This record gives sequence, C-alpha cells and structure tokens, in this order.
Amino acid sequence: MRIGVSSANASSHTAVKIGFLHSLIRFEEKCLLKEFQSRRGIEVVMLDDRELVFDLESVPQIDIAFERCVSHSRALYSLQFLEQAGVHCINRASVARICGDKVESSIELARHGVAQPALKVAYTEDSALAAIEELGYPVILKPVVGSWGRLLSKINDREAAEAVLEHKRLLGSYQHSIFYVQEYVEKNGRDIRAFVVGDECICAIYRESSHWITNTARGALALNCPVTNEIAELSLAAAEAVGGGVVAVDLFESSRGLMVNEVNYTMEFRNSIKPTGVDIPGKMVDFVIASGK
Ligand SMILES: Nc1ncnc2c1ncn2[C@@H]1O[C@H](COP(=O)(O)OP(=O)(O)O)[C@@H](O)[C@H]1O
Ligand SMILES: [Mg+2]
Repeated sequence: MRIGVSSANASSHTAVKIGFLHSLIRFEEKCLLKEFQSRRGIEVVMLDDRELVFDLESVPQIDIAFERCVSHSRALYSLQFLEQAGVHCINRASVARICGDKVESSIELARHGVAQPALKVAYTEDSALAAIEELGYPVILKPVVGSWGRLLSKINDREAAEAVLEHKRLLGSYQHSIFYVQEYVEKNGRDIRAFVVGDECICAIYRESSHWITNTARGALALNCPVTNEIAELSLAAAEAVGGGVVAVDLFESSRGLMVNEVNYTMEFRNSIKPTGVDIPGKMVDFVIASGK
C-alpha cells in the first residue's frame, strides 16, 4: 500500500499518527486539519484518494485512519483495505457500508427498532409501481447511494410514477434500478440534523426550507435546534444501529413523532458551527484521538 503521500506539519512529540483520508480539502477538512495539527500538534499523514494505491500486503505507518472522502465507493474500499491491514478507522468500514446505502441503513434501523418512514424496495418498473400504489401518494423515490438531495423524486400521482420509473429504467445506471420508495412525511418545512460523536449528541440544527428537500446543499437555512432528550435518545439509537462513531442523523418531526430519515457517515458541518455555537470539529478530533488510546 503506497500511502505516505505527504506528511504535513508533523510533530515528533506526539505518539499517535493520524492518516487523513480525503479527496478535496473542503471547509470541513480545513477545520479538522487545523484541530489535529495547529491546535494539538498531532502528526497527520495526508491520504489523498486520488493518489492512493492499495495492495494486500503493505502495512500503513499510521495509528488511526480518519475518513473524509467525497466519494462513497472510495471511502468504503479504502476503509476496508486499511482495516484489513490492521488500522483502526473512524468511521469503521461497516459503518460506511451501512450509512452509504439507504437500503442497508433502513434494514439496520429496523433491526434496532428505530422509527423511520415506511419503505418499500422493488427491482422492476412494474413491481415498483405496485409498491408505490400500495404506499399511497405522495411517495419519495431515492437513489440507494447518493447525497446532497440529488436525484430525489416526490411522486404525486400514477402518471408521474410511470414517467419517473421509465426514465430511471432507461436512463439510469444499475443503482437506479433498485427502487427505494418511501412514504412522504409531512414535516412542516424543516427537518433536524443531529450530530453524534461517540456516545454524545453534541448539537443539532433545524434545516428550514420552502422546498420539501431540506439539505443545506440545496439552500435550506440552518438554525439552532435545542437537543431535547428525545432528539438525543433517537439520534444515539440511530448511530448505534449503524455501528456508532461520528455521524449526522437526519430526523423528521412527523405527526407520528420523531423518526429517522438517514444517518450520514462523513458529515459536513460548515453551516452548523455558527448556529449551534458548538466546536464540532474540535469534538470530532477529541473523539478520534481518544479512540486510539
Ligand atoms: N420521505 C420523505 N418525506 C419528506 N421529505 C423527505 C423524505 N425523504 C427525504 N426528504 C427530504 O429530502 C432531503 C434529502 O433526503 P435524504 O434521504 O436525506 O437524501 P440525501 O442522502 O440526498 O441527503 C431530506 O433532508 C428531506 O428534507
Ligand atoms: Mg440527507
């Protein structure tokens, strides 16, 4: 495994050596690197997924790998190689595998008794249409692997269902023929994103939007959401269901109570530090370092 790509600001005083697995250095990665290097003098080995070459023999000279890739498949395979080589990873490969796939996530949430919207999964246009009709309109159709609210469809009637399913079958990749159909949850213009670090729900934001898609990447407004016991308990249960670590849990305030929409394993937090007043990168880095002790 060739992973010693570059080592920046290394300090010879600290015991723990962090492999920082990344693609682009975004706002989040800048904050996290600042925490590791400038604030704590931790040695960081930069693992750029555009340059990495893995093999099945090499043992990387790092103590902990901290994953911050943009691409799910690169993150997942890299974590699997690193774990196979004996490196402790945050998050673990199994967490990335579950969180990165909405079917796997839903199964794990159900296995752990965590409330979530009703779901049906089908593999063909006809069976997906039957599943949609059975759930009742409106429904949401989502790519099984994806983020930032991309390629989600809200389907309000049978004609729209037929059109979207045909487009997906004819124009979509293999992934788009796994039809993940969810009940549409009326959530009154917002959802909640709760940040979990280890066994603590450190803060949460409301994501408000006039659009039904409330990702901040799609323009939703981030506002502080006080962490109630209910939010903390459900978020921690969801985090535990996927295997724990550092995750962001999306919650809906439905008429049936709080429910979990999804769990994100390489969480972004650029819009959340200011409204919550919580040092999210600092808490993440504390957790990473503590996990190596
Ligand atoms: N079943 C649903 N009912 C209502 N809104 C939904 C539903 N599913 C998703 N959304 C909206 O779309 C956003 C993105 O959906 P999500 O499943 O989190 O996909 P992504 O992984 O792209 O973020 C959610 O934050 C929420 O605002
Ligand atoms: Mg989401």
